[in-house]
This record gives sequence, structure tokens and C-alpha cells, in this order.
Amino acid sequence: MTALENEAVFGGARALRGRVRVPGDKSLSHRAVLFAALAKGGSRLRQVATGEDVAATRRIVEQLGVRVREKRGELLVTGGGIDSLREPEGVLDCANSGTTMRVLAGLLAGRPFLSVLSGDGSLRKRPMARVTEPLRLMGATIDGREHARLAPLTIRGGGLTAIEYALPVASAQAKSSLILAALQADRPSCITSPALSRDHTERMLMALGAPIRVDGLTVHVDPLTTSWGGFELDVPADPSSAAFFAVAAAITPGSEVVLESVAINPTRIGFIEVLRRMGADIEIAPTGEVLGEPIGDITVRYSRLQATRIDGDEIPSVIDEIPALAMAAAFAEGVTEIRDAEELAVKESNRIGAIQQEIIQLGLGCEAHRDGLTIRGGTPQPGSMLKSHGDHRIAMAAAIAAHALDGPSTVRGWAVVSVSYPSFAEDLARLAGPE
Ligand code: S3P
Repeated sequence: MTALENEAVFGGARALRGRVRVPGDKSLSHRAVLFAALAKGGSRLRQVATGEDVAATRRIVEQLGVRVREKRGELLVTGGGIDSLREPEGVLDCANSGTTMRVLAGLLAGRPFLSVLSGDGSLRKRPMARVTEPLRLMGATIDGREHARLAPLTIRGGGLTAIEYALPVASAQAKSSLILAALQADRPSCITSPALSRDHTERMLMALGAPIRVDGLTVHVDPLTTSWGGFELDVPADPSSAAFFAVAAAITPGSEVVLESVAINPTRIGFIEVLRRMGADIEIAPTGEVLGEPIGDITVRYSRLQATRIDGDEIPSVIDEIPALAMAAAFAEGVTEIRDAEELAVKESNRIGAIQQEIIQLGLGCEAHRDGLTIRGGTPQPGSMLKSHGDHRIAMAAAIAAHALDGPSTVRGWAVVSVSYPSFAEDLARLAGPE
């Protein structure tokens, strides 16, 4: 790999061998920083995700008056309980992070002050009505572009009433947002999802002793009477980052990679199920549990892959891994169908269009649909000019496909990987060994 300004070159199909601990899980890191900020007391967080998304959440809790220090790789967060948050003087910049904006909207809807949430060009295009509508129903005063369907959002919070709400989309960000609002409401609330989405907020809050209870697809939330105390957490490795190495090992001949200490929450590892269905050789060895989250080592070896179908309720458990899985499909024999995944169009980029373009660039057939993709697997061609589309996961998907090919390919717009995995190229190069 050589990096030249905002481009990176990958290729050579060198077998990936060895062990890697990818950075701490992004979803868990956002929640850990936020819940530590709401705790009464000091928290020590280790292995917090290194990317810009979580850095945005950290900056915002500091703007809300919470003390955060970094010492020898640990994040030390000193919270004074939810009531000690204070009105921020400036705009809260969520950068590229949908989780930061949506989850904070729910927290701030309950705070008796004015907040303004904004973000980069990609985030300002993403749908916010899924949080602003129910939060307005609870009594928060929220405005924003297109009647609060788009950021920037202004929130004047406080005085929330309870809600019984059926979310129209299986979104963990929206669910978490409403849980944080409901903790600040006058009476018990319940929030129901149409399908299971990642459940980190529920697991972590229950482990901390917050008054919430899960019954199938419904979360029951009572008003918070006392803040939880400070806590310690070693954030497990991010399965969504690990998925790129899992696919890279599965498609690069001779590979055997161990992904260490990965969060193996069942709502996050749908990609392993999909890869196994495609014929991948994968083992999971559970190693422990932290704050309700199971952890394990994942071993992946190269094998010939077959096409598959991914749809229905499986989609929320693989939604962030579809860019990586699409590359597995490109190297597989047969036609892979991905359906019921309309949410892909409103992620950090329109991932339906972005994946289609990159698969075509690799010399393969790919059709885009409103809710997914048809990918005609075969023999991808090196020598392509691939693009990130300003999306960290598309950049890494392009990189693993390029790596598995004999000749070099370029990925343009590479710098965006810093959103979730700043050292991705270095870790890939280390697993591949000397050129
Ligand atoms: C996330 C939830 C998912 C996921 C996103 C992170 C979270 O989005 O795609 O990258 O941390 O809650 P949804 O809100 O669509 O589930």
C-alpha cells in the first residue's frame, strides 16, 4: 500500500496471516462516553474507538460541561449526573456521525435549555424525522430544515411527557434516542421496534442499573430517579471493522486471520452467518463478557465462496457490513441478492449506488434496486480506479477487494477511513507481511 495525498493503492493478493485487535466498537464507544457523562462520579474507559465519530461525541459532552481527560490511553470521564449538564454556548458539531446526532437529540430533548446540533454535508442530508417526530410528540420544541426532517436541529428541551411509540424503522439510533428521552419523562414509556436492531443501549443501561426492561421488541422505560454511578469499561473490538478483515481473509487465497476480543453481540454478527452460508471457514471462541456484552475471538480462513440471498429481518444485523459482504459476493460464484435494505441509501453515502459503481468498476455486473442490489460474482479485475464516495465503509470495502487482486488498484478519497478506523491500511499491510 502506498498513500499519496488522499489516495491509497492496494493489490498483490498477499495472504493475510496473524492476529489483529481492531479498534474498540464505535456504537459501544459512543454509548460509553455518553453514559459516563451522565453518571454521577468518575468513569475509566479503555480501547475507546479511535475514529472521528466518537471524537465528536466526546467534544459534545465536554461542551455540555462534562470533564473528559485522556491519560495513558484511558479516557477519564467525570460526570455529575444528568441534571448537571449545562446549556452549550456554541453549535454542537456531530461531524459525520448519525449516532451522535440522533442519540444526543433524545438526551437534549429532556434538558431544560437550548441546543443546536449540526454536522457535515453527509449528515445534513440524512433523515432526522425518525427522532424529531416522536421527540416532538413527547413535548420537546424542535426545529430544523424542512420542518425538522434535516439538520441543523434546534432543541429546546425539558418537561417531557411519556410516550407509547412504534418506531417505523428498525433503527438502534432512533430507539436509543427515545430511551434517553423517556428516562427524563413524567411517567413510564414504551418503545417498540418493527424488527430487532442492535441492543447496546438496553444492555449497557440495564447493566448500570437504569430503570429499563426489555420484552421482545419492546423496551419499557421508567423515569430516572437517581443517576447511575461511574464505571470502568474495556470496549470490545468493533465487529463492523473486523468484518473487513473477515471478508479480506475469506477472499484472499492462503489467508488465516484471528480477530481478537470482538463484540459478538448477536445483533452485530449477522455477517458471520452470511459468510458461513457462502461457504466461509469461520470459528468463534467466546472469551468473556463486559457490561452485558459478549466478547470472542474470531478465526477466518480463505475458502471458495458461493452466492447467497440477504433480506428480511437479517438486514438490521448486517446493515453496516453490507459494503464488506458485497465484496465477498463479488468474489463468489453465482448471483447474490440483497433486498429489504432501503436504509442503505441513507447511510454515510447512498450505499446502494456507491456499491453498484464500485462493483462495476471491478469489471462485474451489478444492478441497483430501491431496496438493495443484485451482484453478479466472478473474476474481479485489478487496475481499477475505485472511490470512497466520502464514506469510510465504502473505502475499506474497495481496499479489501483491491488487496485480493494480483495487480494494483487505487482507492480515491481514502482519508475518510479516519471516521471509524484511522489505522486500517497499516493493519492490513501488517497482516499481509512484506511485499
Ligand atoms: C448505530 C446503529 C445503526 C448503524 C450505525 C450505528 C448505533 O443504525 O447503522 O452505524 O450506534 O446505534 P440504525 O440507527 O439505522 O440502526
